[in-house]
Amino acid sequence: MSEEIPGYDYGDESLPEAPYDEEELERLQAAVMFDAEDEEALREAGEVLEPQIEEILDLWYDFVGANDHLVYYFTDGEGTPDEEYLDRVRARFGQWIRDTCDPPYDQEWLNYQYEIGLRHHREKKNRTDDADAVDHIHARYLIAFIYPISATIRDFLENGDHSEGMVNDMFHAWFKSVTLQVTLWTQPYFPEGDW
Ligand code: HEM
Repeated sequence: MSEEIPGYDYGDESLPEAPYDEEELERLQAAVMFDAEDEEALREAGEVLEPQIEEILDLWYDFVGANDHLVYYFTDGEGTPDEEYLDRVRARFGQWIRDTCDPPYDQEWLNYQYEIGLRHHREKKNRTDDADAVDHIHARYLIAFIYPISATIRDFLENGDHSEGMVNDMFHAWFKSVTLQVTLWTQPYFPEGDW
């Protein structure tokens, strides 16, 4: 299925190796209190979220669309959004929900995290989709987005038939994973040795 998503290169041999390895992943996971129970909760979350992916994307895209300073990153900087770019990224975003809910994470996953970070940064933004858009997403919004991307998932997790306790576990596992991933994505934004 993933091969049908334009620009989705998870597992592609030609991707650069991430400048962080599985040992660093373990340390970061410990730092966000992410453990084997979170992995289990995320896999459960994946089942609940799968049939709701389009609705989740509608909500996130409406949120971005309602804020000029956010939709800006999909425009040429003069108010014109690149609609094809928005559509192509949306399909990969949907796949990202599945990948987030498919731990354990390994080196191949880390390599794609590095790629996603580069794609938000001027290093690689716009290249995958040949987009006509501003060339860099500022780190401050990547970090700030941890909250909406986490808080808004809770209602969708409630739509399965899980207990309140399990919904809570799935929510926290998701929140930790998003925090972990955005942390990895910020690596290219730092001068050597500072990250
Ligand atoms: C790309 C998620 C923050 C704008 C992507 C992709 C994902 C994603 C999954 C596609 C990766 C791929 O190519 O496979 C997230 C998450 C964020 C976040 C989870 C924070 C928690 C932001 C912010 C903006 C933004 C704050 C700006 C409004 C974009 C754009 C692309 C993109 C423009 C396409 C980049 C390219 O040219 O390849 N994002 N994102 N993202 N995101 Fe984000």
